[in-house]
Amino acid sequence: MALIAKKIKGTEDILPRDSYKWQFIEKILSDEARVYGFSEIRTPVFEQTKLFQRGVGEGTDVVQKEMYTFETKGGESLTLRPEGTAGAARALLEHGLYNDGLPIKAHYFTTCYRYEKPQAGRQREFHQFGMEVYGANDPISDAELICCAKSIFERLQLFDVRLEINSIGCPECRKNYHAALKEYFAQFTDTLCATCMSRLEKNPMRILDCKSPVCKEIAANAPKITDFLCESCDEHFKKVQQYLTAADIDFTVNPSIVRGLDYYTNTVFEFISDSIGAQSTVCGGGRYNGLIEELGGSALPSLGFAIGLERLLMVLEAEGVEIPKPEYDMLYIAALGDKAQLKAFELVREVRETGLGAQFDIVGRGLKAQMKYANKIGAKFSLVLGDNEIENGKAILKNMENGEQTEVSINDAHIFIENLLSADLASEMN
Ligand code: HAM
Repeated sequence: MALIAKKIKGTEDILPRDSYKWQFIEKILSDEARVYGFSEIRTPVFEQTKLFQRGVGEGTDVVQKEMYTFETKGGESLTLRPEGTAGAARALLEHGLYNDGLPIKAHYFTTCYRYEKPQAGRQREFHQFGMEVYGANDPISDAELICCAKSIFERLQLFDVRLEINSIGCPECRKNYHAALKEYFAQFTDTLCATCMSRLEKNPMRILDCKSPVCKEIAANAPKITDFLCESCDEHFKKVQQYLTAADIDFTVNPSIVRGLDYYTNTVFEFISDSIGAQSTVCGGGRYNGLIEELGGSALPSLGFAIGLERLLMVLEAEGVEIPKPEYDMLYIAALGDKAQLKAFELVREVRETGLGAQFDIVGRGLKAQMKYANKIGAKFSLVLGDNEIENGKAILKNMENGEQTEVSINDAHIFIENLLSADLASEMN
């Protein structure tokens, strides 16, 4: 078979046999969002390129190397979103959502696009679940958000996902830090990669999350931001830790977490799994007090996180968490002959109206093949209709799980449905 097209490198199809796993996590994630008071926001898959340049930051890997950017016929530069925070913030500003009463809490499910080298847990199209809180500055809001991420993992039976936190301070305390970093990295100008050399002057913190192994090794001994925090940032960070401790949440302070996006200020955090290989960060987030202003709004302290859904599913699988396959209360009517097929067509329509699933043969197969198909789709009940059944107005309803058989009337759809529902109820009570 010569296919004329293939899926793009770094993308994955989610097939019907696997989609229940996605639905399962999506349900838990949106339930958790609801109990924490978040409402869903949906934003377009592409945005003006300048949104990410300003929002995520010109000096980041994401903007410099990984964006899918294209020009429209009218000459405008657009970009497929590499993450969800900038688009949600743009929407907040454009619709004046901040007038609705603060804090605003929004969550989203998005596809994201980054031109990275694909590997396990790293794709070019991937899915994020994100939560954003706008208009909250108190350290207890940092702790609450982290609690929420933690409780998502617990709801999913993932108790071994580690929490690491750090504070990367405010622009004020970062001035001294930048100076210290510049001095440190200046010793390595002949070994740093070309991108890091270009970052040295303007944004030396970005060297800390360069993916090149050589730069990583140099960065490991660089000065730590936590030694440069101003008094108020230091106090904020200490309070976050106190609240986390009060909430019984284990964490480690990791001064090397700087996150790869420019908008972060103060608290940053990551949830890491040791069971999925190199791409081990399942969830990343933090506070971003300057972003809304950067995008043209008034100052609005904000914070959020995103969980990578592919990585989340990898952790669930690695940890052996079983995702329940959905049960369908499905009736399959196998029919032989024109009259029986017409009857099956009528009955399945009636059954579906009650909300129960029903199928019948629409491809003209023999009885044996129809029953094989009924098994394959996991039908809970089957009913065989042939000339005899049509003549007698009665047929045998078989529970495919326990083999129980009941004679049911097929002439009156209402009576048939009553019989079917009571057989279904009886099987659930057994
Ligand atoms: P991020 O750390 O770039 O943060 O991405 C968040 C999560 O998305 C990662 O922890 C990872 O699970 C997943 N992820 C990132 N890149 C890939 C990829 N190439 N393939 C598969 N999964 C990936 C953000 O995007 C921020 N917007 C999070 C945030 C929300 N901060 C505040 N609010």
